[in-house]
Formats: sequence, C-alpha cells, structure tokens
Amino acid sequence: MSRAGADKDFSKAPQGDPQRGEEIYKQTCAKCHAINPNATGPDSHGPKAPNLWGLFGRRSGRLPDFPRGYSQALQLKGTIWNEETLYVWLENPQKYVQGTKMDFEGLPEPKDRADVIEYLKKATGPPVRTNERGEAAGRYGNHG
Ligand code: HEC
Repeated sequence: MSRAGADKDFSKAPQGDPQRGEEIYKQTCAKCHAINPNATGPDSHGPKAPNLWGLFGRRSGRLPDFPRGYSQALQLKGTIWNEETLYVWLENPQKYVQGTKMDFEGLPEPKDRADVIEYLKKATGPPVRTNERGEAAGRYGNHG
C-alpha cells in the first residue's frame, strides 16, 4: 500500500531537468492548461484547466475567473503550491485531493515530476503575493 518516502519527499527527488520537463508539460499538461504571463480574465486559461502562471506561492483553487470552476475539493484543500506540494499532487492528483476535477492519472516516476516542477519554476514566473485568504493579490503574476 504505502510507497517509499522518496516518492513523497521532494528533498529526496532527483535533480530536475527543465528541458525534459518542458517536453513532458507539452505532451501531457498543455492540452488542458495554459501558462499565460500576466493574463487575467476567463480567456487566460487553458481549454480545460486553470492558468498556471504565478503558480508558486498561491493557494489551490483560487483563481477567481476560471470559467469551468474549480472542484470544491481543490478549493477546500487550500494547499499552497510549491515544490513539495506539487511533487505529491502530480504523483496522483485524485489521491492528494479526493474529488478533484483534474482528470489525469499522474506521473508516478519521481524523475518525471522533478523535471516538470523544475520547468514550472522557470515558466510560471515569480511566486505570487497572496492576501490572507490565499487569493492572488491584485493582478496575479503582475508584481509591478
Ligand atoms: C485532462 C486535463 C488535465 C491535464 C492533462 C492536467 N491537468 Fe492540471 N488541472 C486540470 C483541472 C480541470 C484542474 C482543476 C482541478 C479542480 O478544480 O479540482 C487542474 C488543476 C491543476 C493545478 C492546480 C491549479 C490551481 O490553480 O490550484 C495544477 C498545479 C495542475 N493542474 C498542474 C498540472 C500539471 C503540471 C499537469 C501535467 C503533468 C496537469 N496539471 C495535467 C486539468 C488537467
């Protein structure tokens, strides 16, 4: 049942390769998600999933204008997205957030997750400032 700790612990993850991570992102995540720098409004999102710009430091399920709407489960989870939480989420989204709408089986290989996270760290811009409710303060991604 339970997996080895290395599968859950980002500090034990292999070194991520952002270029390989970008390939994995394009093949597996981009059909649903977008990464739109400084974009706001309903059009900033991917075809099925929220804009990942400004991901690091923001709380799960908080973009105000994701037109399809987040699951209640992801909103209630209230996770702050960072390397550690993404590493567990991306292994098996349904296990980390029971009832999530992210219809994706996950990336079981630690190396795949480390690579994608390394890519996302570069591609999603600087961590977002959030208010006390964990909502992106002002225009998310715009740190002016
Ligand atoms: C089949 C479409 C689909 C695929 C493929 C997919 N996602 Fe998602 N993702 C979603 C949906 C839908 C949500 C919103 C889930 C919810 O509300 O429960 C989401 C949510 C997320 C969130 C939380 C965003 C937030 O604002 O809290 C992250 C992070 C994320 N996905 C990353 C990824 C990454 C990285 C990949 C590729 C490894 C990926 N997703 C693949 C559909 C997808």
